[in-house]
Amino acid sequence: MSKEGINVALLGLGTVGSGVYKVTQRQKSEMMQKLNTTLQIRSILVRNIEKHKDEVDDPAILTTSFEDILEDPQIDIVVELMGGMEPAYTYIRSALEAGKSVVTANKDLIADRGGELLQIAEENHVELRFEAAVAGGIPIISPLKSSLAANEISKIMGILNGTTNYILTKMTNEGMDYADALDEATALGYAEADPTADVEGYDAGRKIAILATIAFHSRVTFRDVYTEGITRITAKDISYAKTLGRVIKLIAMANNTPEGIEVKVHPMLIPEDHALASVNGSYNAVYVDGDAVEDVMFYGKGAGEMPTASAVMGDVFSVARRIAEHSQGSTRDNVYRSIPIKKVENTRSSYFIRMEVEDKPGVLATIASIFGNNSVSIEQVIQKNKIEKNAELVIITSSVKERHIKDALLILESSSVVRKVATMIRVY
Ligand code: NAP
Ligand code: HSE
Repeated sequence: MSKEGINVALLGLGTVGSGVYKVTQRQKSEMMQKLNTTLQIRSILVRNIEKHKDEVDDPAILTTSFEDILEDPQIDIVVELMGGMEPAYTYIRSALEAGKSVVTANKDLIADRGGELLQIAEENHVELRFEAAVAGGIPIISPLKSSLAANEISKIMGILNGTTNYILTKMTNEGMDYADALDEATALGYAEADPTADVEGYDAGRKIAILATIAFHSRVTFRDVYTEGITRITAKDISYAKTLGRVIKLIAMANNTPEGIEVKVHPMLIPEDHALASVNGSYNAVYVDGDAVEDVMFYGKGAGEMPTASAVMGDVFSVARRIAEHSQGSTRDNVYRSIPIKKVENTRSSYFIRMEVEDKPGVLATIASIFGNNSVSIEQVIQKNKIEKNAELVIITSSVKERHIKDALLILESSSVVRKVATMIRVY
């Protein structure tokens, strides 16, 4: 016997909230076949009813009171799409404690307090789902938790932020200015309320923390992730990358190694023929390495109104189906290991280093000896541009420990022959 009609409350009617409202309207006639019940949006929490009254068919569903939603026994599922830590945390916690399941797209909150909230959901026999929190419309949380559950996953690598991928694509393919590309990404609804989270790599850092926790069964929070953003990437770096047959992408990666979990986000020079090199615009992609499945790649739109609403509504449908069937979904996050986090200084990579140096005999030998004395071997040197009286030098190193490269750069920066170390970008 199915429950009659599932009622949903939305918290927030911004980019994603509007998409969720539209998808619910579009799917109305299919609900019964898909869910064996109907599903309707009963309330929407906004800050200003006047601002949103033309966006919904019935403005009476708009409210500025979360308490009204919390105390409404007819509401089964609360969908949090406001973003940020507070009041999102308090609202989600209260909803779970009141016996309502919660669906959220909030990676800030899940990457920091997801474990605690999942525990509260379990204690209250309700569900907390967050597919949309990672890689927008791409299904990745569910596949990791179910389809790939029988694998020992050793590595996740991907492009997890639509805004920065859009910016880098525009800078690379159209020579667009960084600021103009960021403005476009914001206008298209891809950027966070404060785009610092996107461009400094924090957003991708939160997403890789969530994925690493699920994949490695060990708690990884945003504080464990080393992050570097794209704000220092220039047209010059992009042009050198092209010369080297590479493109620059903001890469998020997590490796489960015998020495601990490496988890980081930073720009990287990727070979042009690598699958991630052709992931452009707001598209995201995630590679997963499992011992049984080997390589799998997930690809799709990582941000934006409708792709993100697709992921949110997938979760809403899953919860609704279970409520209709009077069955209980799993809310466990299966964290049963405690693997240490490896310091970034102990991770390895090749590096692209661009610097301005004095243009005189012996400079290259001095620089090479500084690298050599710090266990860094050089793979390639490019010297083609002059900057006033100085020469511009690009060095590609072999794979070395990060602490060796950082030691070498410190010495180079204080060396009399080096004017400036302009960029250091990791090379895949
Ligand atoms: P948004 O466009 O800024 O929308 C947020 C909405 O929440 C706004 O309408 C805002 O109201 C409302 N809001 C904020 N605080 C509120 C409060 N205390 N009470 C009532 N309403 C409140 O953001 P968004 O892009 O939709 O993102 C929402 C969430 O989804 C975030 O967690 C974000 O990280 C995540 N997400 C976004 C995307 C994307 O592509 N945009 C993709 C995946 C995940 P006002 O209109 O009054 O400001
Ligand atoms: N600001 C995020 C991005 C939204 O650009 O990827 C999707 O999580």
